[in-house]
Amino acid sequence: MLEISNISKLYKHNDQWSEVIKDVTLPIADREFIAIVGPSGCGKTTLLKILAGLLEPSSGKILLDGKEITAPGKDLGLVFQGFTLFPWLNVWENIAFGLNIRNLKQEEVVKTVNHYLTVTGLKDFAEYFPKDLSGGMQQRVAIARTLANNPKILLMDEPFGALDSQTRSQMQEFLTRLWEAEHKTVVFVTHDVNEAVFLADKVYVFSPQPTEIKKVFNVPFPRPRTHALKRTKEFFDFSNQVAHEFEQ
Ligand SMILES: Nc1ncnc2c1ncn2[C@@H]1O[C@H](COP(=O)(O)OP(=O)(O)OP(=O)(O)O)[C@@H](O)[C@H]1O
Ligand SMILES: [Mg+2]
Repeated sequence: MLEISNISKLYKHNDQWSEVIKDVTLPIADREFIAIVGPSGCGKTTLLKILAGLLEPSSGKILLDGKEITAPGKDLGLVFQGFTLFPWLNVWENIAFGLNIRNLKQEEVVKTVNHYLTVTGLKDFAEYFPKDLSGGMQQRVAIARTLANNPKILLMDEPFGALDSQTRSQMQEFLTRLWEAEHKTVVFVTHDVNEAVFLADKVYVFSPQPTEIKKVFNVPFPRPRTHALKRTKEFFDFSNQVAHEFEQ
């Protein structure tokens, strides 16, 4: 269980403090996929950084299984917007990077990297360098690299934001299948209401700054989900309700 407990964050700008996040409490159950949608600048990235232990909150706590998180650790894996691969390493080496740092046995590294190459459909591209891959492929490598470290929780900040809409749809289906297979806890930040509803079990709508939780929606659609879902009236109606809350 991951608990965001009474988190507030103030930033200082020209000697003036402004409150970005105001007393956010949000419990995330194991293996739950939650999405956060909120207007630009409301503090979503700030909250994810606090969750990851990269940034200190002004008050409140992050608890993982009852223990406070104060520094980055291997329980949390991050995937951010943009493609943060190492350009001088090929796909195989990018995925192996974190494993090699941890001094695992070479057999183990090979097994894990091969597994995630298969899972992400990149087996034929192991020797490619990032510059020779499409955006969607690069983002799959980034996800594979994060998953290879076996984090309990995946934190994703607009991971598909830079992709064209068709690739984005494919990546959403890919992530759904991956989640259905691996059942990690996922915290997924996006501007895109349809994306949030398609992927998540729960959608949290955040207010403009200072951010509070405006509303929580339990997504009623069963899994496995495919893109056909997006064309149903039920999906359209439900997404509209969320969008209405988001835009108000
Ligand atoms: N290091 C910092 N120092 C001062 N202010 C900051 C800092 N980082 C972020 N902010 C401010 O905090 C607010 C929230 O920023 P944040 O990046 O968390 O928003 P966001 O919800 O992720 O936005 P977007 O959807 O555009 O990515 C913004 O007003 C931003 O200017
Ligand atoms: Mg952001």
